[in-house]
Amino acid sequence: MPPQILMTDPAHFEVDYVINPWMRPAAWHGDPEGNRAAARAAWDALAGALRQAGAALEVLPGAPGLPDMVFPANAATVLDGRALLSRFACPERRPEEARFRAAFRGLQARGLLEKVGELPEGVFQEGAGDCIWDAQRGHFWAGHGQRSLRAAIPEVAAFFGREAVPLELVSPRFYHLDVCFCPLPGGEVLYHPGAFSPASLGAIRDRVPAGLRIEATAEEAGLFCLNAVAIDRNLVMARASARLRAILAGRGYRVVELDLAPFILAGGAAFCMTLRLDRRSAEALRPAA
Ligand code: ARG
Repeated sequence: MPPQILMTDPAHFEVDYVINPWMRPAAWHGDPEGNRAAARAAWDALAGALRQAGAALEVLPGAPGLPDMVFPANAATVLDGRALLSRFACPERRPEEARFRAAFRGLQARGLLEKVGELPEGVFQEGAGDCIWDAQRGHFWAGHGQRSLRAAIPEVAAFFGREAVPLELVSPRFYHLDVCFCPLPGGEVLYHPGAFSPASLGAIRDRVPAGLRIEATAEEAGLFCLNAVAIDRNLVMARASARLRAILAGRGYRVVELDLAPFILAGGAAFCMTLRLDRRSAEALRPAA
């Protein structure tokens, strides 16, 4: 079975409001036609790179007035055929919940998901953007402190019956875990230390041996190249620094860099434009290919 990845068609993507420090509506509206065309081209390039790496894509339609639906990583957390729908902290994105709920029910009806669950009302949690499965270690890493509440973490752990290790995000620039933290298929963890509280850095360092920790600078994280999709040894990401590219290539990864600038104007890139649907916890601890 090929890896299954959900994406949202970018027809309704634009940058209209500011809910994270990267968002630049003025830059978007300075050239809406050019940006729309560039966004379509960037989205097509990402979809092409994922297919090239072996993925099968499920593509949802977007919706007018909901530009950030193009980031389905925030729609739900998915593992073992179960999807736990997110609850958005920002009012701008809350209307996405009903759209994604319907879409996930549709996936369930088609047998692509077995169970769709909901968080208690008011328990904000922005899906896989803040809850990343570590296939090598067999647990989630769960961001909180910016968009997602710490109180959501035990809910996630209970729903999936798997451990979720809390990581406190302390900087508004790194508002979702997936912009500053990326577990790789070989067991390495690529992360920006400045995004985390001291206790959470301790948790990362306790669980990931020094030889597997790859630290990125704030500038590198600001390129959104930590927001990467890993498929086997392929890493699909926004343009990276030469330094990170060399480190990753040296670890045996095939780094596929794309120009995702139109989406970076909204504060997102490759990982958050996708949601992996087929991950199974039983694949955990499988020796790296
Ligand atoms: N404009 C979106 C927001 O601020 C970008 C979300 C990107 N998603 C992510 N998982 N980092 O909500």
